[in-house]
Amino acid sequence: MLKNFWYACYHAAELGERPAKLRMLGHDFVLFRDRAGRAVCLDDRCPHRGASLAGGWVAGGCVVCPYHGWRFDPAGACTSIPANRGDARIPRKANVRAYPTEERYGWIWVFVGDLPEAERPPIPPLPEYGDRRWRALHGSFLWNAHYTRVVENGMDIAHAPFVHARTFGNPERPQVDEYAIEHHPWGASASVELVAPPPGGLWSLVLPRERPPVKTRTGFYMPSVTRLDLDLGRMKMVIFNSNVPIDEEHTLTLWIMLRDFFKGAWADGNARARTLQIFEEDQPIVESERPHAVPMDMSDEVHVKSDALPLVFRKLRRECLRERGWGLEWSAERTGGEAPDEAPGEAG
Ligand code: FES
Ligand SMILES: [Fe+2]
Repeated sequence: MLKNFWYACYHAAELGERPAKLRMLGHDFVLFRDRAGRAVCLDDRCPHRGASLAGGWVAGGCVVCPYHGWRFDPAGACTSIPANRGDARIPRKANVRAYPTEERYGWIWVFVGDLPEAERPPIPPLPEYGDRRWRALHGSFLWNAHYTRVVENGMDIAHAPFVHARTFGNPERPQVDEYAIEHHPWGASASVELVAPPPGGLWSLVLPRERPPVKTRTGFYMPSVTRLDLDLGRMKMVIFNSNVPIDEEHTLTLWIMLRDFFKGAWADGNARARTLQIFEEDQPIVESERPHAVPMDMSDEVHVKSDALPLVFRKLRRECLRERGWGLEWSAERTGGEAPDEAPGEAG
């Protein structure tokens, strides 16, 4: 797993009065809101006796540990130790690590790493979000799979006729036209035309039975955001996923589905069901892939022309791990107040 990136890890609307536990990158964090309503992210381990701060509560913009009531401010500094007499000093090591946060697209993003602000890779763009021409819908999907397999699935073009034959894939047309890779900072995308099967359900009211090719654009941003654009002529949709690595074997996809048609709330249920059906079609396949993580050595799996985009992802990931040394490892043991060790590694 990689450090030095922003991870969208929580639906902002779900972070309320109480602190929330967040398991991400094989590590426990606590999220809460400060007095101004800004999201705060700290390590979820009290430096006193290691209790989970997420089991506590928020008071005066600080999180309060449920064991002995120590308080930690948004910077992670301890501001109160109730058992101490008034004249006792707060130990210097009585603090927890704090992580930068941003709220964007209805998600809370957390930066995990050690780069100064000016050098951090940016949060990926999603200009359609907040634009009145689009209706946005949020959801989550949990995978028993390594995030690299989920990310590659999100940009894989050739599987649609097989895995999604019941939704948008066309088993009669499995060939993938040669496509050009468009590189952008920290990612890449590709556009292809897919021949869709006849529309079903609600969509059959709008789309003709003989459909023009679906202009499809698929892409990714390091380390774990994927974006799929489908242009069906009269209808356009975008599925934007933050595939959050929970640990080496679990991934939580936070998704936003944007559509420029049927924009009333009445169609949300249908849009949600269609989006989840696509994930459910992918799920058994993605969870079956071995090894869990995509191999570091390109020659460990066989590639064909239609795999060009996932190969860009593999190369960027390898560059982050090997050349930049951005592999993330948390030390199993740590003493109060010290930042976790982050040693370069290839656990990826
Ligand atoms: S363990 Fe948190 S205050 Fe004691
Ligand atoms: Fe898929």
